Amino acid sequence: MLNNQRTVVDLIIYNCGQLITMQGADRPRIGEEMNDLAVLPDGAVAAANGRIVAVGTTEEIRDQFRPVEEEINAESRLVMPGFVDPHTHLVFGGSREHEMARKAAGETYLDILKSGGGINSTVRATRKTDEEHLFQTALHRLNMVAMHGTTTIEIKSGYGLEPNAEAKLLRVINRLDQRHVLDVIPTFLGAHIVPGDWERNEYINWLIKEALPDFGELARFCDVFCELEAFTVEESVRILSAAAALGYGLKAHAGQFNALGGAGAAAQLGALSVEHLDFVDEDELDSMRENGTIAILLPGASFFTGAGEYANPATFIERGIAVALGTDFNPGSCPCFSMQMIIALACIEMKMTATQAIIASTLNAAFATKTAADRGSLEPGKKADLILLNIETPEQLPYYFGVNLVEKVIKNGRIIYE
Ligand code: NIG
Ligand code: FE
Repeated sequence: MLNNQRTVVDLIIYNCGQLITMQGADRPRIGEEMNDLAVLPDGAVAAANGRIVAVGTTEEIRDQFRPVEEEINAESRLVMPGFVDPHTHLVFGGSREHEMARKAAGETYLDILKSGGGINSTVRATRKTDEEHLFQTALHRLNMVAMHGTTTIEIKSGYGLEPNAEAKLLRVINRLDQRHVLDVIPTFLGAHIVPGDWERNEYINWLIKEALPDFGELARFCDVFCELEAFTVEESVRILSAAAALGYGLKAHAGQFNALGGAGAAAQLGALSVEHLDFVDEDELDSMRENGTIAILLPGASFFTGAGEYANPATFIERGIAVALGTDFNPGSCPCFSMQMIIALACIEMKMTATQAIIASTLNAAFATKTAADRGSLEPGKKADLILLNIETPEQLPYYFGVNLVEKVIKNGRIIYE
């Protein structure tokens, strides 16, 4: 018998065969905690005003709450928090499918970059593309992202690399946040490469003296690509230190192709995350652990560049360094929208368990974007951002790889895709 005094909510989702809650999420999961999804069998969630009101069993929730709008029967399938994608370069002009044949013929990602292609070619195309067109293409991409179950996404600038074009990209990224239902976290990546039409020191001076002070309102984080053909460790430190002094959160691309020391240096400056980390030295790991820096691993880039080297999640997990996963969506090293594909790669190529990969794609990714206060787990008070997948167990997520398993996406308590 249902209780007549039930509290009215907007939405109830019930009959979730396994409800992954990730409860108790006051910091990123590390070490052994990476083995705990806090699954509730036959779970249910009640939501109102875009937020989670209660999480419990189907019986408890339906006994206490009555929905005015939607009641979704999950029919015993798996329900979990929406993915948080903590590393993308989603706004750019042009595309780079032509590079695939060059790579197949033996050139590497860095060879193509060195020859004036790669990031350089996207910079040329992005500078030429007008703001409205960049915005419209990015909106379509964000719809694809949402269809694949991501409900919060970080987006970096970095294909303008001159004052007007970087400002244009950051405006587009901020407008996407306002206009698209997904939440977008903006990052300034003016330090992506030194563009061919600038002198090196002049460019770095522009970044430090003008760009960083000017773009503070448009970006929450500052990122640097520390790599051969991009920025040295010393340059990265100068740029990140200036950014920290202005109040930016710090991120760094480091160890994508070479262990230059950027990961350790960024960690010592208090970086929230270091990203890629396919190559990393022991002392860098110590710095990351000591500073609580999160490792964002991007197996899609290792896969798509054909570099063949993947990061080793166990190295981080064993040391108590939090691991997150991201798509690295971008036109050159990983044009992939799907966190599900990334989870499959993480499990198959980097030997993560499905449980670890799911934590890395939700809760830990929320910490890596500083958004975990209201997302990344299913707990009362957090945003009602959740996805219903056409699978029954967490292990089936990487198992049925290469297709979209998402059946419904709920963002801020409303169905945005089914
Ligand atoms: O994360 N490594 C630098 N940036 C991107 C790739 C950008 C591009 O190739 O356009 C990355 O892999
Ligand atoms: Fe990247």
